[in-house]
Amino acid sequence: MAPGATFPTAAAAGEFTKRDGKALETLSDNIDAVNILKPLTTTTTTTTEKGLYDESVFDKTKDKSQFRQYETACARVKSFYKEQHTKQTVAYNLLARNKFRSSTRARMSVWQAIERLNTLIDDSDPDTSLSQIEHLLQSAEAIRRDGKPRWMQLTGLIHDLGKLLYFFDGIAEGQWDVVGDTFPVGCAFDDRIIYGRESFVSNPDYGHEVYDRGLGIYFPGIGLDNVMLSWGHDEYLYHVVKGQSTLPDEALAMIRYHSFYPWHNAGAYEELMNEKDKEMLRAVRAFNPYDLYSKSDELPKVEELRPYYEELIDEFFPERYMMVVSSEKESINMKFKSSKVKTWVSSRSEPVNENQE
Ligand SMILES: [Fe+2]
Ligand SMILES: [Fe+2]
Repeated sequence: MAPGATFPTAAAAGEFTKRDGKALETLSDNIDAVNILKPLTTTTTTTTEKGLYDESVFDKTKDKSQFRQYETACARVKSFYKEQHTKQTVAYNLLARNKFRSSTRARMSVWQAIERLNTLIDDSDPDTSLSQIEHLLQSAEAIRRDGKPRWMQLTGLIHDLGKLLYFFDGIAEGQWDVVGDTFPVGCAFDDRIIYGRESFVSNPDYGHEVYDRGLGIYFPGIGLDNVMLSWGHDEYLYHVVKGQSTLPDEALAMIRYHSFYPWHNAGAYEELMNEKDKEMLRAVRAFNPYDLYSKSDELPKVEELRPYYEELIDEFFPERYMMVVSSEKESINMKFKSSKVKTWVSSRSEPVNENQE
């Protein structure tokens, strides 16, 4: 049996919040469509293990015209981002992290989590084009076919599991704090974030003397580990997996930054990076095509593939049950530039219940 991941109690009890999973996924698909990158061209096939940074080849013969065009997705996605860019503030970010830390956790195997996400999102529409489990397996299989490392295959398998967040009672407020491109809060909103700075004009932090000025509460080279990214499924899963698996830093970066398009695609926030982040950026860029472009692959045979991936899960999740809360305390101890801001941030932080699982 594969080891467990910890999720809020409601997950174990099967008492997820009733929400429209299909609507979330349709939106998520539209967001992906907007992020589709420039087409690639030729192909080769290999089963030999390759280096992490070798160019991806799995998608080179795909007809990129099958992907929905930016214009089609644009209207829906733009209104989604308007809401997200208005509500993702420093204050909300701290609140979400504290809510996450102080939630009661429950155990669930990684494979069970995949199946649960699949059911929650796809049961609402049996005609859905591609299920969650298929997207995850397609990403993982494309990585595997390209001969990439086993830990990266597993990363492909789990990278969107954080969407379970949407169904945990009281943890997510809506679609805007689950999906969509991510960006830092606490520093100036960069024009390279999708729809630019003007999309943030209704955000309470917009024009703020600290949070919307240059590097804000951060300093040059602080390192992205110390930067608060907007809250969503990426950030959530990163904190769940960190410390509970033997996945390397590159895998954690792929999970945490896979929606951080202003950084990995548009070159923003370079000043915040440290030496480690430069390596992590290469890793995230190596992963990105497997997320965006693998969706048009042949449908995977779930039950046939399951034993392989359960073995992979066992390899990198050595503990059968994992604790979430303790590893989270560090996020409050960030290296803020201004002691005034640090004091303010600390005052917003709820005490963590050490006994919570
Ligand atoms: Fe994702
Ligand atoms: Fe994905």
